[in-house]
Amino acid sequence: MHARLRAATADAHAALDARLRGALVSRERYGAFLRASHRALEMLEAPLGRFPRLESSVGRRARLIERDLAALRESTSPSPPGRSSVTLELSSEGEAFGAAYVVEGSALGGLALAKGLGTALGLDDATTRYLRDEGRETLPAWRSFLARLEAWNFAAPLGAEEQAVRGARAAFALYGAAFVDEGKLETAWKSP
Ligand code: HEM
Repeated sequence: MHARLRAATADAHAALDARLRGALVSRERYGAFLRASHRALEMLEAPLGRFPRLESSVGRRARLIERDLAALRESTSPSPPGRSSVTLELSSEGEAFGAAYVVEGSALGGLALAKGLGTALGLDDATTRYLRDEGRETLPAWRSFLARLEAWNFAAPLGAEEQAVRGARAAFALYGAAFVDEGKLETAWKSP
């Protein structure tokens, strides 16, 4: 299941990765990135909360961003102009597992980003809690999520894998839309 999700979202991940690397060139843009990520997590929090077996970190990660933004002295409200975002509905546990895969996996990239950005933009630890996952054991947490994913898939009905792929792609699209919607990231986003 993991290999399938990874393959099915490789294009979406590569696109976000390339564009974000180009966009994150100032503290202001970093703030915009955090706000957009926060919006995506907020939209995922309630739908994922309906599936407690996932043990998703979505709420905890959203709270970390709030602390980072406070330390940066920035608000969680989107920068103007702000747009209406896409919405997300998770109508099955399969879709929810797929979406959770994206939330949990993004912590891996965060660690890599935190290192480079911290130095390049002179960010202190108080403003990079979300990317560093607050110094938690990110890899063991990721492996534990993958174990839950595989256990679910083992017992899941036929067609559940397709649902998970749908959920993962929808979650990537949600993050992508949140980054586009975020005013201050937009210029960089449109011309990566
Ligand atoms: C500049 C931004 C980003 C960078 C540099 C980055 C980098 C990385 C890296 C280095 C990994 C670990 C790959 C591995 O161990 O094989 C990873 C994994 C992952 N990232 Fe990102 N990432 C970025 C943004 C994002 C975003 C915005 C999301 C989703 C919202 C995301 C979702 C994921 C997922 C789901 C995985 C797990 C892939 C797997 O199944 O192994 N990443 N990322």
